[in-house]
Amino acid sequence: MVDLLLAVVHHLLAFGIAAAITAQLVLVRPGMQPPAVQLAAKYDIALGIMSASLVVIGFSRVFFGAKGSAFYIHNHVFWTKVVLFAIIGLLSIKPTRAFLRWRKAQAADAAFAPGEEEIRSIRKTLMTEIHIFALLPIAAAAMARGYGYA
Ligand code: HEM
Repeated sequence: MVDLLLAVVHHLLAFGIAAAITAQLVLVRPGMQPPAVQLAAKYDIALGIMSASLVVIGFSRVFFGAKGSAFYIHNHVFWTKVVLFAIIGLLSIKPTRAFLRWRKAQAADAAFAPGEEEIRSIRKTLMTEIHIFALLPIAAAAMARGYGYA
């Protein structure tokens, strides 16, 4: 039962993260208007909460899941998945800082809209994040079937 619950929450969080990055990609585009800044920043908070929860749930699956921790700890595909997720986390620092800055600027001037060049740069980072994220289910499916276990 614990294994099932962890698996369900793990999947929901993974889908939630993909949805939040996609929503930011829809919002963060050249010509974005002030309300889009607020919304993108809200998705960023959700993204942070879901990502932290996924790490906790993911490692709970390692230690309390049905297969036992040795199945994952000795699997390089598992560690590849963890490192890829960590890279996404590091990449997300840049958009998060931009959203905080934009919100602050908007608090001072309600008509503030970010510059086109910065929008393009943040969009590129979000694109990179979602493409790396797409690799994670591949690694997950492989590791769950013992590929990479040494
Ligand atoms: C630090 C972060 C993560 C850890 C520690 C972790 C850990 C795990 C573990 C232990 C399993 C169980 C595999 C099995 O059934 O033997 C699993 C499955 C899975 N994970 Fe993660 N995970 C993490 C992040 C992610 C992310 C970001 C995604 C996004 C797509 C993801 C997608 C999946 C999927 C789709 C499965 C099911 C694989 C299958 O049964 O075929 N995981 N994960």
